[in-house]
Amino acid sequence: MNRSDVGIDQLGVYVPRYALPLDRLAEARGVPVEKIHVGLGAHAMAVAPPWEDAVTLGANAAARVFRRGEVRPDDIGLLVVGTETAVDHAKPASIFLHDLLGLPSGCRTFEIKHACYGGTAGVMLAADWVRSGAARGRKALVVATDIARYDLGSSAEFTQGAGAAALVVSEAPRLARLGETTGVFAKNVYDFWRPLERREALVDGKFSVDCYLDALRGAVADYRGGLNGQGGASLLDRFAAFLYHTPFPKMAHKAHRRLVEDDGPGDVAERFERSWTTHVEPGLGLARQVGNTYTASVYLCLAWLLEREGATLEDRELALFSYGSGCCAEFFTAEVLPGCAARAAQIGVQAQLDTRRALTVDEYEAFARAATGTERPAADGSGNWHLAGIDGDKRRYARHAAAERAA
Ligand code: CAA
Repeated sequence: MNRSDVGIDQLGVYVPRYALPLDRLAEARGVPVEKIHVGLGAHAMAVAPPWEDAVTLGANAAARVFRRGEVRPDDIGLLVVGTETAVDHAKPASIFLHDLLGLPSGCRTFEIKHACYGGTAGVMLAADWVRSGAARGRKALVVATDIARYDLGSSAEFTQGAGAAALVVSEAPRLARLGETTGVFAKNVYDFWRPLERREALVDGKFSVDCYLDALRGAVADYRGGLNGQGGASLLDRFAAFLYHTPFPKMAHKAHRRLVEDDGPGDVAERFERSWTTHVEPGLGLARQVGNTYTASVYLCLAWLLEREGATLEDRELALFSYGSGCCAEFFTAEVLPGCAARAAQIGVQAQLDTRRALTVDEYEAFARAATGTERPAADGSGNWHLAGIDGDKRRYARHAAAERAA
């Protein structure tokens, strides 16, 4: 095995079938729609129905990587689930997924948490597991899955969302090689948190934006420091695209502006405008439609970009930035491999968006109430698995009949 070959072999994405157009929410909350469309850059958010949770979203994303038949459940020797909206304080989401996906008993599984950074923590750990040789030819499955929830009526309500990404990491990847040099930044800050008894997150919104930008600067500086004397070169000249953790698209705008400011001499405004449209904007289409997906966010941007522009990106390098409040952040890279485009075209992101149903604000609020109430509406057959019930405190998951028949 060549350590530098390790990377992403498969990528699956799942977004719920329901969406709330944010112009409807803006009208209901008395907020100017331009503030949301222009000020935040957001147009809709995915809404998880009461029969979906971080487990079903993650399982539905992972089912899509196995569906193509190039990787089998028996190939997996490590399953890591990154989430900050876990369903139990002790029993990890990963063990539910291990069961639902039919993974072998000789498979290490656990859940990992550091706010929105948890998915990337899993990817880095999986890549190191493969590089170390401990994998013995097996592959790692990393699932990033979350439902972003804030209090109804809060300013953060417009930055909710839901979705999951599943990545197979292996020594012979078919989508992208992961760069071995990465840059990290960590600092204890109280920008976003969710005490154990709360379902909705708390956030110091403006401070969280500053923390994100400081973490980006720190992670990029650490990355440059790891480049053995080559760290001074322009990142804008090297990378074909920059994918940022995207709680709302305007955050990526602020982040890229910060990166350009630090990238070297020249007219920042002019370099930023040119770079924004070619390097960042093409990766944001899904985030505009699903909102914040916490751990999955940067991987949904990756899926969207590869599905649409994989052909022009083959043999080129991407820069990715993952930020987890609290905080820990990582700047890392991926080289798109020849043949990626044909596989990425089957990820099916656009197809999932095309079949979504737009909710009214009343329906969205009814979903929010139902998710915490004892009356759970019947699942409607979307996705593959759903939460079938909670017996006492024990969660029970089931496969939809149509998915059973197709299996
Ligand atoms: N027309 C056009 N633009 C308008 C406008 C109008 N009528 N009214 C306001 N705006 C603009 C503002 O100028 C502002 O733009 P700039 O930031 O470029 O100046 C933008 O709209 C937002 O306005 P406010 O700052 O007044 O908005 P807000 O008080 O509603 O807060 C928020 C915005 C802080 C992002 C809030 O939605 C929030 O707290 N979200 C959750 C926290 C979050 O996502 N933080 C991101 C960093 S932390 C992270 O990334 C981890 C994570 O996933 C949570």
